Order: sequence, then structure tokens, then C-alpha cells
Amino acid sequence: MMGFDVEALRGQFPALHQRVGAKPLAYLDNAATTQKPLAVLEAMDAYHRGCCANVHRGLHRMAVEADERYEAARESVRRFVNAESSQAVIFTGGTTASVNLAAWSLGEAFVQPGDEILVTDLEHHSNLVPWHFLCQRKGAKLVVAQVDERGEVPLAEWKARLSQRTRIAALTHVSNALGTVNPVAEMVALAHDAGARVLVDGAQAVAHLPVDLQALGADLYAFSGHKVYGPTGIGVLAGKLELLEQLPPWQGGGDMIARVTHQEVTFNELPWRLEAGTPHIAGAIGMGAALDFLAAMDQRALAAHEDQIMTEAIRRLELLPGLRIIGRPRKRCASLSFVVEGAHASDVATLLDLEGVAVRSGHHCAQPLMDRLGLKGTVRASFACTSTMEEVEQLEQALRKALRMLGLS
Ligand code: ALA
Repeated sequence: MMGFDVEALRGQFPALHQRVGAKPLAYLDNAATTQKPLAVLEAMDAYHRGCCANVHRGLHRMAVEADERYEAARESVRRFVNAESSQAVIFTGGTTASVNLAAWSLGEAFVQPGDEILVTDLEHHSNLVPWHFLCQRKGAKLVVAQVDERGEVPLAEWKARLSQRTRIAALTHVSNALGTVNPVAEMVALAHDAGARVLVDGAQAVAHLPVDLQALGADLYAFSGHKVYGPTGIGVLAGKLELLEQLPPWQGGGDMIARVTHQEVTFNELPWRLEAGTPHIAGAIGMGAALDFLAAMDQRALAAHEDQIMTEAIRRLELLPGLRIIGRPRKRCASLSFVVEGAHASDVATLLDLEGVAVRSGHHCAQPLMDRLGLKGTVRASFACTSTMEEVEQLEQALRKALRMLGLS
């Protein structure tokens, strides 16, 4: 798709064409989950209708077809994020499962008592709690690089928190709460200089930014299918083959083994060594279709479109009395958080829903960030390739009405 015709694109997303009461839906909760295009719905349906078989186990025709579609999806992922090989693309249940796998396996392989794990204030709980668990399990220490008043983690702060004891550095590519885009390549390089392995949480990045794993240099990169227009329950842990080869499997079961006796177990090769049990086959196929769909777009035009939507949303929201946008990162994508002085975020979100505008309110699974910013929560509008200027205007008008109803304007 060359150029960017947002209306034609929206025609591919059946769920976007509903009304909420009398209002058209303005779906601005894309950071929570994205809607699904026909290509994804059809790919999953075709698997269920035509070749619903397990993978890597059967020799019959449906099983061979299922194998082919599942492994083709892995190749779609590899291509989309430029992973070094399809062996270095592990299917998981989602970003949370990817980070838990990484934290457990890296911990077993590399972490000793007294070692340090570095994270940032911007982390979603899914890239924080698994590191807490690891620290408790191994007697390691969690170190946090703090955000500044812009909602950025300055490189000097990141560098200062790295030490010779840092074994693992874990950071988000894009903040789900503020939309801050971290300078990942620079942060990875600094962490490598300190001798640390780096995991990047790409859940909020892959749908919005070009992600080239080999250029970013991250050792491991995690993301979810459902935030890139694919289904829930499927995600990826991709990274450097050299490191993945060293990770002990964190779950045992079918398909991850080479040979099992009552005395011992030997393991399958990557990627299957880290994919115990029957995987979410339809999910992987759906995610592959989503990434192929995204890859077919004009990437420059897509980025320009999302940039224009964000710029216009900031411009309109800044005009509203008593509304404060949280954070001023120099690079922001997808998510825009704000508070309304004198109103609870959930009340604002409920009033927006009455106007057909879907947003998320609360702590956004980033409680330490809210604490650091002195906030109980925010209202968050989050955008996607399907977002329109009309939706942004609908958000502004709905906010004006909410302010009046709350007696704030
Ligand atoms: N991580 C998702 C969000 O930020 C659920 O809303």
C-alpha cells in the first residue's frame, strides 16, 4: 500500500465500524490492544477450518500444512524485525511470558548473589516483576534509572546506574504510559560497555517504529501479537542466537526435547527448545499475517501519519483548561497521557466512553512510574495506524463536554 489512505485501511478493520450508543466509536486504546484486520481474522479462520492439526508431530496432510503455516509465521516475524535467523525467534504467550522466560533463564545462566539488574522508571510491570522475582531468587539487587521531568531517562543517568555488577539491563523501547521513545541503540551500547546483557521490551514499539534487531544490538527483544494487530496469547522473544543457545529451558514438556528417559533429558534445538507444549498455533499464524499486513504498508507514510495524529492530539489537548499532558519527551509515539486537575482519571474515562471515545485510565501497569511522577493515575489516549483526525477531534469535543459536566469549565 503506497501513500497512506487511512479510510481504505480502516475498511480492513471490521471492529472499528461500530457505534457506541449514538456516537461513532473512536478507538483510542491501542496501547492496551489493537483491533484486527481481515487478513488476520482470515488467516486464523483458514487454519481452524482447513488444517487444524498440531505442529511438529504428525505426518498426515493437515499436520504438514499446519507445520508450514506455523513456521512461515516465524519467518514473517524474523523478516519484520530483522532477527538474525528464524531459530532466534521464540514464540511465547506474549511479552509477559517472554520476559518471564528471559528472566528465569538468564538468571539461571548468569546471575549470582550480589549481581545487579538495571531497569528504568518507565517499565511496565511485565518488565519489572519478573526481575524482582529473579532478584529474590538469586540474591541480586534491582537498580533503577530514573526519569527526569520530561519523562525521559537521560543517557547520563542510565550510564551512572550501570556498574561492573550489572549482569542484565532491561528497558522498554516505548513507554506504554507516556509514549517516551528510548534511545535504545545508545542505551544498549552503554550497557554492553559495562558487560551487561540487555533485554528490550518492544511491546509498544513494533507497531509504530521500524525495529531492526541487528541494528539495535539488543541481546533479547520481547513483544506481543495483540499490540501489532494480531491476536492475544501469542508473542515473541527474539535475540542473538549465541545467547539463546546458552539459555537453559524454563519449561519442560513436549517438543522441547530430543530424547527422554527415566534417567535424563536431552533438548531439542532452537527455537523449539524454548517452546514446550502445544503452542498457540492459530495465534502465531495470525501474528504472522498481521506483520505481513503491516510490512505491506508504506512505512514512511505510516510513520508520518502517526506523527501527525500525535501532534494534532497534543495541540488540541493543550488548549483545554485544567488538562495537563504528562511528560514532554523529545520523541514520543503511540501513547499520550494526561490528567484533569480536580477530576479522577476513571471519571474522565467514563465520561469519554459516553461520547464513544475508548481510552484507558489508571496506573497503566506502571505503578512505580506513577509514584515517581506523584500521580495516582492518568487518562491515556493511544493511537494506531487506523487513527484519524476525526477521532482526535472527537476526543477533544468529548473532553470539553466532560469538563463541563464535572463543573471544571
Ligand atoms: N500493556 C497494556 C497497556 O498498556 C495492557 O494498556
